[in-house]
Amino acid sequence: MDPAELFALMRPERICICRGVSRQDIRRAVQEGITDFDALQERTGCSTGCGTCESRCRACLTALVLEEQGKACL
Ligand code: FES
Repeated sequence: MDPAELFALMRPERICICRGVSRQDIRRAVQEGITDFDALQERTGCSTGCGTCESRCRACLTALVLEEQGKACL
């Protein structure tokens, strides 16, 4: 595990405040095969409260899916 991954695990960034969903929660969902927003919502509950985090959740999901796809190509 590189230092950036370790830091992320130690200080999980909250992406959705209402549902307490962190970047790490989204990363875990992506690692388990989730690639679309509806499935992410169903899995984590993100963006099912006030909804103001939707763009952050979508951006995080996209970035993490691309990251996982990049790992798969190595
Ligand atoms: S901050 Fe995510 S639903 Fe409110």
